[in-house]
Amino acid sequence: MSTDSASTTGGRAPIATLDGLAVAGKRVFVRVDFNVPLAGEPPADSNAPHEAITDDTRIRAAVPTLRRLLDEGAALVLAAHLGRPKGVDPDLSLAPVAARLMQLLEESVTLAPAVVGDEVTAAAAALEPGTKDRRILMLENVRYEAGETKNDETLAKAYAALCDGIFVNDAFGAAHRAHASTEGVARQVEHKAAGLLLQGEVETLEGILADPGRPLVAIVGGAKVTDKIGVIDAFLDRADTILIGGAMAFPFFKAQGHDIGSSLCEDEGVEPAARALRDAELKGCRLLLPSDLSLGREFSPDTEQRDLDGVDTPDGWMGLDIGPKTAQAYREEILSAGSVFWNGPMGAFELEPFAAGTRTVAEAVAETNATTVVGGGDSAAALQQFGLGDQVTHLSTGGGASLELIEGKTLPGVEVLRAP
Ligand code: 3PG
Repeated sequence: MSTDSASTTGGRAPIATLDGLAVAGKRVFVRVDFNVPLAGEPPADSNAPHEAITDDTRIRAAVPTLRRLLDEGAALVLAAHLGRPKGVDPDLSLAPVAARLMQLLEESVTLAPAVVGDEVTAAAAALEPGTKDRRILMLENVRYEAGETKNDETLAKAYAALCDGIFVNDAFGAAHRAHASTEGVARQVEHKAAGLLLQGEVETLEGILADPGRPLVAIVGGAKVTDKIGVIDAFLDRADTILIGGAMAFPFFKAQGHDIGSSLCEDEGVEPAARALRDAELKGCRLLLPSDLSLGREFSPDTEQRDLDGVDTPDGWMGLDIGPKTAQAYREEILSAGSVFWNGPMGAFELEPFAAGTRTVAEAVAETNATTVVGGGDSAAALQQFGLGDQVTHLSTGGGASLELIEGKTLPGVEVLRAP
């Protein structure tokens, strides 16, 4: 394993990086996260722009690693998943992704007819490092193979046999999965390293926990407290201020004895919310809840809408966004922060009448001079929707992976890259 130059992270053993990896003339097995949203049919002309991929951020994000390995003289065997197929599913073929990657790299990408097997072995053997038309092979959707998600050792060995003993993991978004192409294969090769994307994600997310600019403001939104309680707990220990938004505010309100009308409220969230409120007192962390709300009759863009000054929601109404006073207060917290972590929208931003709170927070995150780190998933989608995706310090490509890392969990796809 190459550790000549390594990324030191939070007191644990360092992750091997590309800097110490000799790849010239070698076939390298590279795991990427190309799990992108798709819509519609692929174009008949494979050179035409692929409208089916509605957001190619993850493909673009892998390009620096792929370009670097190619420039250093490697040939690439790319492995990725798309969706969660149970067996072979032509609707989840990586064909549109291979076409998009070909456009971005401006060179030939061969899509293998399967994940492993004789034809794939032959295609990998035919790779010629240094050529422009025979140096990139993309395996079909690795989840076509049942052994992938089971981290099957035979499958991991079959992956390793497609390369010359070198594995690079750049799939940060899948690093919380212990699968054959994210974890198992790393145990079957001589050399392994993090790609530039995975390395940058881990360093940035660990950095905001270990040594944040002060004050550290964490914005936590979304539907369920139970999905985010690990993140709230991590920030109760570290942040100066936590701003709560989205439907997850209602278990907090319920715990405080407020009326919540017909707002979406996860009952299992009430006890953790009550505990978080107590912990915030004990730990001296400011845990701020909305002070006003935007209400609707139902979850619909056409519903009757009204603002509520306060949070006691009348029967027949549901809270669908933070109100304007809360949005302004949150904006001021964000503008005076030294660093900001944001995960989860402030309301039903996909419904235009209830997007204002999330938009105000997104604009403040884009405008502040603080270091800004945005977890993947809905908050990343919100930033992109408002055209602000390029105005933050770091926009994570990993939804679940970034949350697990912030919670302090170990990510199998990262751990396996650490020096023994
Ligand atoms: C993601 O989209 O979050 C990653 O690609 C992981 O996908 P999964 O949740 O299907 O493992």
